[in-house]
Amino acid sequence: MQFPTTRMRRLRKNEKIRSIVRETNIYKEDLIYPIFFKDDLEKGQKEEITSMPGEFRYSLEDGVEFAKHLEELGLKSIIVFGVPLKDEKDKVGTPAFAENGIVQKAVRLLKQETDLIVITDVCLCQYTSHGHCGLIVENDDTDFGFEILNDNTLKFLAKVAVSHAEAGADIVAPSDMMDGRVGAIREHLDEEGFSNVAIMSYSAKYASAFYEPFREAACSSPGVGNRKSYQMDPSNAIEAIRECELDVIEGADFLMVKPGLPYLDIIKTIKEEFPLPLVTYNVSGEYSMIMAAIEKGYLTDKAILETLIAFKRAGADLIITNFAPYVLENNMLD
Ligand code: PBG
Ligand code: ZN
Repeated sequence: MQFPTTRMRRLRKNEKIRSIVRETNIYKEDLIYPIFFKDDLEKGQKEEITSMPGEFRYSLEDGVEFAKHLEELGLKSIIVFGVPLKDEKDKVGTPAFAENGIVQKAVRLLKQETDLIVITDVCLCQYTSHGHCGLIVENDDTDFGFEILNDNTLKFLAKVAVSHAEAGADIVAPSDMMDGRVGAIREHLDEEGFSNVAIMSYSAKYASAFYEPFREAACSSPGVGNRKSYQMDPSNAIEAIRECELDVIEGADFLMVKPGLPYLDIIKTIKEEFPLPLVTYNVSGEYSMIMAAIEKGYLTDKAILETLIAFKRAGADLIITNFAPYVLENNMLD
């Protein structure tokens, strides 16, 4: 049937009819807010993140207060990042698994003061003196003279995950991209009695330029070199399937594609290939470019919801996004 019998515009006549034929909807349950807790801030203090307009590093008390506020607006889950004291950083990232580390303290307080699902980012880069996500050793056969060790890093990641579980985390989310880390974390969690703590694996995490604002926010830039020997090459799509396959075998409960917007094709492929809940990370650079354009008046804030809808249309079930407060505070989902 063709025009004039068929008229696509019939179902676009007004908002009421558009709303009943809408294929993709976004709910508050779909959003996960990444929050930064910084160890040297005191109650009443928060620090503006200059690379991310509208975002802050929070003291323990202020971050929890902000989380409560978001919970009242309908947020269900939060992912916690820590910024430790600079002089506590060392070669193996010790403050990442300290009982009184910043994330561990934040998790305990969040579980006490809110009913949010508390997810933690499991990595070493904010906590190592060299800023890499694993232990390093000199090696001339590399791009910048250092090898990021795989197997030796696993036990440290497992320690981080267990310490987060001990603090009360519901879900741990390893973002380091070492091979075998999901299996190592699962094994140690189970051994320590945390078989109900879920693993949200950053499965297909690309070595992306879009993380730059986050690294300023978290003070986690690598001192020398880059992350290309562990994070994925942006040119590769098939490889994302292999990464996810391994994570499924090792016991991941959620898969993730990161970044989001430049990798919508990967989101679609992974959703088609694997029957697991799929998360995408709408990363700092994606946030900052839209916010900067809105501030300059080049875009309106309608670009935010359009972006989030794109993730769900592509196949994501959940979206980690710094836009969560903006979207909730402006009732964009009501
Ligand atoms: C740490 C980590 C990073 C992000 C999340 N966890 C940075 C990186 O890998 O360099 C990026 C998040 C964002 O850009 O919003 N491994
Ligand atoms: Zn890292």
